[in-house]
Amino acid sequence: MNKDKLDYLDAMDIQGWALREKPIAKQQDCPSESVALSSEEPGKLSAMGWSELKDCVQNCQKCSLHLTRTQTVFGVGDQSATWMLVGEAPGKDEDLQGRPFVGRAGQLLTEMLTAIGLTREAVFIANTIKCRPPNNRDPEPEESESCRGYLQRQVELVQPKILLAFGRIAAQNLLGTELPLKELRGKVHYYGVDKIPVVVVYHPAYLLRSLTEKRKAWDDLQLALKVRG
Ligand code: URA
Repeated sequence: MNKDKLDYLDAMDIQGWALREKPIAKQQDCPSESVALSSEEPGKLSAMGWSELKDCVQNCQKCSLHLTRTQTVFGVGDQSATWMLVGEAPGKDEDLQGRPFVGRAGQLLTEMLTAIGLTREAVFIANTIKCRPPNNRDPEPEESESCRGYLQRQVELVQPKILLAFGRIAAQNLLGTELPLKELRGKVHYYGVDKIPVVVVYHPAYLLRSLTEKRKAWDDLQLALKVRG
């Protein structure tokens, strides 16, 4: 656009012409879920490496959660970890810091890991949803759908030997089921074409509210250890 035209728009208090170009171009680089997962048309997500995927998540505007987030929460840890942990979605602390499980639930998660001889650095931690749902509400189905390909690609890149799904939402999203938590806990499920074992564990935020359930969470972790050893 020539300068006269820009001055004219400016004088009319019409802004944002030049600014919109970059985010939209970026967004087009990130394939939609249907493209990414279509069997006829291998999508670009499935070809992405870590930095491209991270950029894609950072610029994602596929659902309305991008309007209320402070930042996306991609995931942290060892990119070739044996253990990959999957939570639900960022909370307030995670949204502010850009890292998963950094609040009170995160502290308990670290303790749970220590109890089975692991550290946060030795595992990879991600959420099924990369943006905080306002007021920590449950993610809407379309929000989970928009994010599904990102987690799938993270799992493909990490190639963990075991996945731990923390809480009902993470378990249901990961396993593509609506079964309640009580039916998902206590057994080994399998994820994706590589049939990675999945163990469902009580969410640490729930354990903070229901200390009596800690014993059951310990059982969940014991099952995971039995699977992975
Ligand atoms: N709860 C989650 O499920 N994930 C986080 O990152 C923080 C709290």
